[in-house]
Amino acid sequence: MSTMKAIRVHEYGGPEVLKYDDAPRPAPAAGEVLIRVHATSVNPVDVAIRQGYFKERMKYNLPMIPGWDVSGVVESAGSGATRLKPGDEVYSRPDLARDGAYAEYIVVRESEVALKPKSIDHTHAAAIPLTALTAWQALFDAGHLSPGQSVLIHGAAGGVGHFAVQFAHVKGARVIATASKRNHEFLRSLGADEVIDYSTTKFEDVVHDVDVVLDTITGETQDRSWQVIKKGGIYVSILQPPNQEKAAAHGVRSAHVFVQPNVAELDEIARLVDSGKVKPHIERVFPLKDARAAQELVATHHTRGKVVLAVR
Ligand SMILES: NC(=O)c1ccc[n+]([C@@H]2O[C@H](COP(=O)([O-])OP(=O)(O)OC[C@H]3O[C@@H](n4cnc5c(N)ncnc54)[C@H](OP(=O)(O)O)[C@@H]3O)[C@@H](O)[C@H]2O)c1
Repeated sequence: MSTMKAIRVHEYGGPEVLKYDDAPRPAPAAGEVLIRVHATSVNPVDVAIRQGYFKERMKYNLPMIPGWDVSGVVESAGSGATRLKPGDEVYSRPDLARDGAYAEYIVVRESEVALKPKSIDHTHAAAIPLTALTAWQALFDAGHLSPGQSVLIHGAAGGVGHFAVQFAHVKGARVIATASKRNHEFLRSLGADEVIDYSTTKFEDVVHDVDVVLDTITGETQDRSWQVIKKGGIYVSILQPPNQEKAAAHGVRSAHVFVQPNVAELDEIARLVDSGKVKPHIERVFPLKDARAAQELVATHHTRGKVVLAVR
């Protein structure tokens, strides 16, 4: 059996359980493609999965490979996978229940793979799928944000937030963002109209009557958000499901988004990137073998944009 280099989790636990291993190289089954991974990115969910939080829901067989963003090149295709061909440069958010992309190769369902943006390299393309799809689905599929509306984005400088700011701005919405002071210039450069320093200002003292709140923080941020939404507006959480009774009491709607694969949306996002309207921001690139340090950085919850693992 041929092997590949991969980072694997042999048991759930701290960052020390991430091992740089020789692992079996996967082969594509019907409807799947084998991708030669050029880069992947590190998301907070990778840390949670490594700690064991998703083990009941996803039923992983250990050792498992984390990493649910990929940019790379199609190496081969299984039977029936006819849309993509060897040599195509692609990106994807692979299925969270399967082995991920902290590896030289990954098998992904062809239906979850899109052509990557042409104008950027694999390192930048790998920073996009999971968090950009989440931002898109929260703002537009759940929030139905439209031109001229206003949106408050909590956690705007993070992986999800920095795409949400750009998508909402391009849509023609008024964008209000929360972040610490060091990220204010960055967020203005992405199109935020107003930035609130959450460490010195209570957003509910200065924000009123927004159409949409996108909350990537939740907890007490959710409790304090109801009052800033106009009647009939919507609160969208990507973490804790919203409290329905509180939403009803404030006359607003609410939604919870868990990111879903969507090639049409990845195509649309690639067009926005290639037109220069949207850019992934990378805080730092680590080599694959340093996945532990990369996860430790992401676990601080204060990275700007994305952290990427370069594989090739
Ligand atoms: N439901 C889904 O499908 C889905 C998908 C993706 C992510 N998520 C979850 O959503 C959360 C955000 O993901 P992410 O990738 O954007 O995380 P991330 O990149 O780790 O977010 C880091 C950012 O959060 C900001 N931040 C931290 N505390 C804050 C606060 N109290 N108020 C405002 N901003 C704050 C930091 O800005 P400062 O340094 O300026 O504080 C930093 O830029 C994670 O918990 C992740 O697991 C869910």
